[in-house]
Amino acid sequence: MSEKKYNFDAGIERRNTCSLKWDFCEQVLGVPDVIPMWVADMDFPAPPEVVEAVKKRAEHGAYGYPFIPRSFWTSIIKWMKTRHNWEIKREWLSRAPGVVPALNICIQTYTAPGDKIIVQSPVYYPFFSAVENNGRRVVKNPLVYKNNRWQMHLEDLKQKIDHRTRMLILCSPHNPVGRVWERAELEALAEICLKHDLLIVSDEIHAEHVYKGHKHIPIASLSPDVAARTITLQAPSKAFNIAGLTTSVVIIPNPKLLNLYKTQLENLGLTVNNIFGLVALEAAYTYGAAWLDQLVEYLEGNMDYAQRYFEERIPQIKFLKPEGTYLALLDCRAMGLPQKELNEFFLKKARVYFDEGPIFGEELVGFERMNLACPRKTLTEALVRIERAVNEFPYR
Ligand SMILES: Cc1ncc(COP(=O)(O)O)c(C=O)c1O
Repeated sequence: MSEKKYNFDAGIERRNTCSLKWDFCEQVLGVPDVIPMWVADMDFPAPPEVVEAVKKRAEHGAYGYPFIPRSFWTSIIKWMKTRHNWEIKREWLSRAPGVVPALNICIQTYTAPGDKIIVQSPVYYPFFSAVENNGRRVVKNPLVYKNNRWQMHLEDLKQKIDHRTRMLILCSPHNPVGRVWERAELEALAEICLKHDLLIVSDEIHAEHVYKGHKHIPIASLSPDVAARTITLQAPSKAFNIAGLTTSVVIIPNPKLLNLYKTQLENLGLTVNNIFGLVALEAAYTYGAAWLDQLVEYLEGNMDYAQRYFEERIPQIKFLKPEGTYLALLDCRAMGLPQKELNEFFLKKARVYFDEGPIFGEELVGFERMNLACPRKTLTEALVRIERAVNEFPYR
């Protein structure tokens, strides 16, 4: 571990900076003075090396059509090797203006209207809309909460596959349940997909935020057979807080699948990249490792702090510490509030804003998803607000 040199306690003022997370509550919901802990970005500036690289490019002044340099691709290849022990090749790589756009492109490219696509709910809600908006059918293979852990239900999966099932969308690590899938779980899943000829689209955008005792394994790295039917969606956007620069990475070892993907990218006219995104990705993957290591330690500190706080001071709410991601589920079922009232309670009484559980699937009725990627003092203020509101809450 590198010596500490970044100050995550300092945070950054984000109000009135075109920030969805910070400006939405007041400007759209009309509720002022809310601590926003919903959409998945962070209240920290990107690594200084990334900020410098973007500034330098901005100062140049000419922002015409970009050319993607070889060094961009090399930075991705090196990152996957050093961080995830995955040897990828230049000819496997493509790009997209975001992981969600890439997901939609994959659905359009590899499936036909009416086909069935499996998602493991509760899950990042654009998985559902990407399938449905493209006229395909969602098949849910819900996760189960067993032994204090969300787990895949592979028997259920096997039963749900039929001749119209084409694809499984994996969330790895998983948002919102925070699981970092283990090798044995991924192997068992991949075996079923291989046996039934399913393509795997693996969204690995949260791969860099993994806590002690866990390790992210790219599913495509399991074996050449798995790689041949997997499309991996990656990006530095979550890890380094650069989602607004709309640059993500698509890894497709199978040349036939890759060509189809590239053709669809062209058909949609998505051939131009954000010039700042190119520069930021390369700087992040080239110089960002030490910053990221320290960030992950800080985030885990936030998780442990919040868990203790809930246990000691707000036991009515159960905090589920994730294995990865900076998102945690709050089990609020003991409060006995219908979901709408629960959301209102947090927004209007506590003045904190979460993503409500059911948007990720009906499995999360009575839950909220809390984003803890903020300085400790913001987190403390949010916890104090929740504690105060819960203490004033009339229990029936
Ligand atoms: C699992 C997952 N995939 C994708 C995204 C968004 O990706 P992008 O902004 O690149 O479209 C998010 C953002 O929260 C996410 O949690």
